[in-house]
Amino acid sequence: MFTLIKDCTKCDLCKTRNKFVFGVGNPDANAMLIGEAPGADEDKQGEPFVGRAGKLLNDILKAIKFEREEVFIANILKCRPPSNRDPLPSEMETCMPYLYKQIELIKPKVILCLGRIAGQGLLQKKMSLTQMRGNVFEVEGVKTMVTYHPAALLRNPNWKKGCWEDVQKFRKLHDELTGK
Ligand code: URA
Repeated sequence: MFTLIKDCTKCDLCKTRNKFVFGVGNPDANAMLIGEAPGADEDKQGEPFVGRAGKLLNDILKAIKFEREEVFIANILKCRPPSNRDPLPSEMETCMPYLYKQIELIKPKVILCLGRIAGQGLLQKKMSLTQMRGNVFEVEGVKTMVTYHPAALLRNPNWKKGCWEDVQKFRKLHDELTGK
């Protein structure tokens, strides 16, 4: 599967990417985190959430007592959209089968979508972030929640309180489902 994505030419993003970003973490993870798409740092390094937003994500994980290595982190898109523009619906549709396959192989107990675009993409719903937050949905039989994207928290630190509430609920759901 890694090779499949590495050599993927299913959309035009393959022409501008430096590195595809498969995802990182524990292949047997109980918790999976899903972002939107690689940014400039991720495109350079081939790993998700390694820039400023990634540092904040690491802090968020630590706050709810997860090690970065313990969870699996992936994105809706595996390649960077030029100038970090929003993913096109056609790009999401083309790339998401890879994510579904990752979910099928990892079999997480809980999924946390980071931001509106990841939430809408995975839930296949045209809901606002406000409508998605706080609820527990089901995707491919896996309990799924949505919170703010860490990059949005860097721009609007006043949203951190809401994110804190979401991730505590996420950790509780994880613990209930895994018996930890
Ligand atoms: N933002 C995302 O959504 N994903 C990354 O991997 C990095 C930044």
